[in-house]
Amino acid sequence: MSNTILVGAQWGDEGKGKIIDVLTEVADVVVRTQGGNNAGHTVHINGQKFILHLVPSGILRKNKVCVIGNGVVVDPVSLVEELKDLSNLGIKIKGNLHLSETAHLVLPYHRELDSQRERAKGKNKIGTTKRGIGPAYADKAARTGLRVLDLIQPERFKAKLAERIRENNGILKAFGAEPLSFKKVHDQYRAAGDYLKPFVTNTVILLHAAAQRGDNILFEGAQGTFLDIDHGTYPFVTSSNTTAGGACTGSGVPPHRIDRVVGVMKAYTTRVGEGPLPSENAEIADMLHAMGREFGATTGRPRRCGWFDAVATRHARIVSGIDELAVTNLDGLDSVQTLKICTGYRDGRKRLDYIPSDVEALARCEPIYTELAGWMAPTDQATKWKELPRRARDYLHTIADLTGAKLKIVSVGPGREQTIFVE
Ligand code: IMP
Repeated sequence: MSNTILVGAQWGDEGKGKIIDVLTEVADVVVRTQGGNNAGHTVHINGQKFILHLVPSGILRKNKVCVIGNGVVVDPVSLVEELKDLSNLGIKIKGNLHLSETAHLVLPYHRELDSQRERAKGKNKIGTTKRGIGPAYADKAARTGLRVLDLIQPERFKAKLAERIRENNGILKAFGAEPLSFKKVHDQYRAAGDYLKPFVTNTVILLHAAAQRGDNILFEGAQGTFLDIDHGTYPFVTSSNTTAGGACTGSGVPPHRIDRVVGVMKAYTTRVGEGPLPSENAEIADMLHAMGREFGATTGRPRRCGWFDAVATRHARIVSGIDELAVTNLDGLDSVQTLKICTGYRDGRKRLDYIPSDVEALARCEPIYTELAGWMAPTDQATKWKELPRRARDYLHTIADLTGAKLKIVSVGPGREQTIFVE
């Protein structure tokens, strides 16, 4: 398979979990490199649904090396819960999962600050998952973060945590929030540290050895291009680099080891949380929600929905160097008579064919659409390209051409078997 970075080409929730699972079949190593338990990757296997937040989806296949890399922010308590749930389902974790010793920790004051800041922002809130992701990355950048290697050294953890709780309780007080109990946090986190210790290792060295051996490494992106801290619709973004570069810094695997970048995009557009979404459309949202689709895997929030936005996916292709595309949720459009594709934006009298950097300008943009006739037939049983209706194939070629990358995979449902490889 070669070393592959998989990224979301939209606003997250592109169906990456399913595509990662499909690509994992030929991978030896699967690595998470950024984000935290704000992510929710849903995988359906033989009718059973698994939602993974921190653990790479490779864990669901036998004998895959799964790595939580240095770029991830880890809530240890939540990770232990996830591991216990997976073990209860009969999934083998020991020996298959490796946790970076330099990954930063998410602590209760991060979650509390996340909530307090959102509350204080009022109608300007970001709509975060309230998992403490932003404050955890802020501490990392401020060099005040605690890392996994601190967590597994009891004396060191105790001293550092005491100091951090003291400072953060002062900040929480200013928000009018309850202070945290050192003892409660300490005991809960130390218990998680003991549970996680056997998994902790230097993952940079582990990945280097894998690359030297010629193992196939799959970098499992979380969130999507427009949630990237640098390239997204700032400030309505998450706090990590969700684009391809983040896979290298978040794992310690250098860029020259990367062979290809796969971009995952839905056949339409969705977003959770606040921030502009130029092709947002109430009718398509109602239709998808009525089908029971498009509710967030992490928070259960209904996702905002819109027409396919080719301006956005073209930009995603540029910033991540996307070579190949996986289009998911094609079946969601089976009953749409006339399909719209956003091919440009209008900002007043100006026509734009790129995403403006200023989020206020993006919020002003009106989409310019091209229309295509819908196929009006079910696609969820198709297993080969030729079995798709001609109009569906035309639509797929159009969105891939507008994005500027090669169409490789089409997904027509959540199951592994509902996957079409485009020759
Ligand atoms: P945070 O990552 O919790 O700080 O949230 C920041 C923004 O990213 C919010 O709009 C979230 O809804 C969004 N977000 C974070 N993680 C995901 C994800 O896995 N899928 C989709 N949106 C996400």
